[in-house]
Amino acid sequence: IPVDPFDLVIIGGTGDLARRKILPALYRRFCAGQMPDGARVIGAARSDMDDAAWRDFVGAALDEFAGAAGCDDRGRFLSMLSYVTLDALGARGWDKLAEMLDSSRVRAFYFSVGPRLFGPLAERLQRHGLADEGARIVVEKPFGHDLGSARALNVALAQHFDENQIYRIDHYLGKETVQNLMAIRFGNMLFEPLWNSQYVDHIQITVAETVGVNGRGEYYERAGAMRDMVQNHMMQLLCLIAMEPPAKFEPDAVRDEKLKVIRALDPVEETDVVRGQYLADGAQPGFKEHVENAESTTESFIALKARISNWRWAGTPFYLRTGKRLRARTTEIAVVFKDTPHSIFGPEAGQHRNILTIRLQPNEGIDLGVTIKEPGPGGMRLIDVPLDMTFAQALGPEAEGVPDAYERLIMDVIRGNQTLFMRGDEVEAAWAWTDPIIARWEEAGQVPLTYDTGSSGPEEALALMHRDGRRWREIRA
Ligand code: BG6
Repeated sequence: IPVDPFDLVIIGGTGDLARRKILPALYRRFCAGQMPDGARVIGAARSDMDDAAWRDFVGAALDEFAGAAGCDDRGRFLSMLSYVTLDALGARGWDKLAEMLDSSRVRAFYFSVGPRLFGPLAERLQRHGLADEGARIVVEKPFGHDLGSARALNVALAQHFDENQIYRIDHYLGKETVQNLMAIRFGNMLFEPLWNSQYVDHIQITVAETVGVNGRGEYYERAGAMRDMVQNHMMQLLCLIAMEPPAKFEPDAVRDEKLKVIRALDPVEETDVVRGQYLADGAQPGFKEHVENAESTTESFIALKARISNWRWAGTPFYLRTGKRLRARTTEIAVVFKDTPHSIFGPEAGQHRNILTIRLQPNEGIDLGVTIKEPGPGGMRLIDVPLDMTFAQALGPEAEGVPDAYERLIMDVIRGNQTLFMRGDEVEAAWAWTDPIIARWEEAGQVPLTYDTGSSGPEEALALMHRDGRRWREIRA
């Protein structure tokens, strides 16, 4: 859908997120013909720089991070860019910024800075007449460190902007396959009737990474996997899997349903959580070295069992696991269906289960394990075969031009579509669920277990499932 010319101000325009994600995303949308003539991208940061210097900075960022994307017209993209030196907490630059902007357009302010600046920035925008109807602000995670700080942020933003002007990014919601979760569930008659505790034994959500926390040690040491991944990305995946069908694919209809799921989550039992920390591997430093704290008790791995107390899911556990430095990079959701109530083929046919796996990355696609007869004359022996669809294969070139998460989300901000953004109450509800879990470790000074690089996490995480007579799916690329 074409958009009208807009102004996008990246506050923190010389920062890492701008360089790695926001600017390459804008460039790819430009190459896809989605940046209308006259659109403007304004970098704002503390450094003294002129337009030409920022364009050089952006050019270098595109070389490094825009991947294969490219078009002949990079010069025209760069000519859309300008720069203003801005002091987020002081007076410098604000009048100039206000003069540059066109109040008849959509104006998006991307707060690509730490959360402590969110409130002051919102206040200054309003003070300079920049918070009116056409204005939107975009904020990144971490949205707070716990319920109290998230609430304080919501209150600070609400003093200057309406909720429908606030776009809280969780980049997982912008991933193509995450949206496909909704298409699969609500666009097919096939799955939804079975999508409940009567037919589903359990659900596994795995976000496994091979990278460590090097380079982000300071942030990560304070966050840990629970705050970094579970409270936001994994919670969003869980919501999309578990929520009731919204009446419409509209922002509040979707977000109301997600909120109900979070509020229906039971408190997590102490014995239902396993935390781990990766060890050094030969010359490769371990977690403690990466965060430069030999006493660190922060987790780089977490596995837990969540329960949703509602009509649909009572009795069907959701097992969540995420970690750094694991065997492979893979993000998937597996819906494991129950056994058939009776096997007409006798015990020798074995137990078979249907598993619907939704692969988010890499090789986005879905895989449905179905049970069939083993070919040959040897009687009725059953085997499981995959009905496997990799989207790239099934869709061919159409799957190639798919925008990445940031491209989609930034364009949604411009279009004014909040469906894929978190509402304030959702974020707070998610913290309200994770806070007591974290508080328990902190009070007890709990030390995480250890695990080897390239493993599937601590052994105890396997036991978390074994004791329920279940097992994790293998982590493999
Ligand atoms: C970020 C986390 O939000 O998501 C990182 O802070 C994590 O720790 C990243 O590595 C994972 O995102 P993706 O898109 O690579 O799965």
